[in-house]
Amino acid sequence: MILTSSSTTRPAHRTQTAIVTGAAGAIGVALVDAMVESGLRVVMLDRDKEALDRAEVKYGEYVIPCAVDLADAGSIQSAIGSVLSKYPTIDILVNNAGILSNNKFASTSLDEWRRVHAVNVDAAFLLSQAVLPSMAAQRWGRIINISSYAAKSGGLTAGTAYAVSKSAMIGLTFSTAREFAGYGITANAVAPAYVMSPMVSEQLTEEQRQRQLAQIPVGRFCTAQEVAHAVMFLASPLAGFITGEVIDMNGGLHFD
Ligand SMILES: NC(=O)c1ccc[n+]([C@@H]2O[C@H](COP(=O)([O-])OP(=O)(O)OC[C@H]3O[C@@H](n4cnc5c(N)ncnc54)[C@H](O)[C@@H]3O)[C@@H](O)[C@H]2O)c1
Repeated sequence: MILTSSSTTRPAHRTQTAIVTGAAGAIGVALVDAMVESGLRVVMLDRDKEALDRAEVKYGEYVIPCAVDLADAGSIQSAIGSVLSKYPTIDILVNNAGILSNNKFASTSLDEWRRVHAVNVDAAFLLSQAVLPSMAAQRWGRIINISSYAAKSGGLTAGTAYAVSKSAMIGLTFSTAREFAGYGITANAVAPAYVMSPMVSEQLTEEQRQRQLAQIPVGRFCTAQEVAHAVMFLASPLAGFITGEVIDMNGGLHFD
């Protein structure tokens, strides 16, 4: 096998550090599990301090819990500042934190719009901006943004602010990929539809759930582990020629 591109060679695996936002949620937990399993050190960013404490007990030295409100730019800057002072090079960033809102156009207030965008997009922008210089300096990095099928569908059950924020994650992915491809950094997005998580189980009515399920050709919802698997592939050395890509995970709901 010949691997020549700088984006396919990386530092010794065990020394790599990843940041996962929304690390205490359904997909976040699956991501942290997969990363720790593969030997990565994982900085877990989430506002759920109790869940972070439980993860620290479970994973010990492999995780660095960091309780932060990602809706607040100042808190993000100070959290990432202290992370970078201890781990100056972040090799992998997964912008996974997200909040759902189901209000459609007419009932979406500017406050809701801003709250959703602050967590779903602004945090991803600020964290990417913070880690890109050290990734560029070592000429290797992976950024994976968790978008959603809502970006392509306009939101089936999801609301306007959420769908637009998930489209913005694709735009952020493209801009990052374009600007940093020459530095061995790839930026990609994953766009799941209906992952089996509280976002689906608690926020959809049983009728909505059954209606969506009936439309998914594979006949089931996605699992958090499947999303983690796609992210791990994009984070791997052999995905170095894939950048600016959006991996759809929708069970055949939509082809393009
Ligand atoms: N579940 C789905 O069906 C689905 C589908 C498509 C995309 N997604 C996306 O996947 C990502 C993860 O979703 P999930 O299903 O694991 O959701 P989840 O609600 O289980 O997890 C989200 C996590 O983000 C954290 N979080 C939310 N707001 C925060 C804030 N202000 N500061 C810090 N942390 C905050 C929560 O504490 C939680 O741990 C989200 O971006 C979501 O939009 C989910």
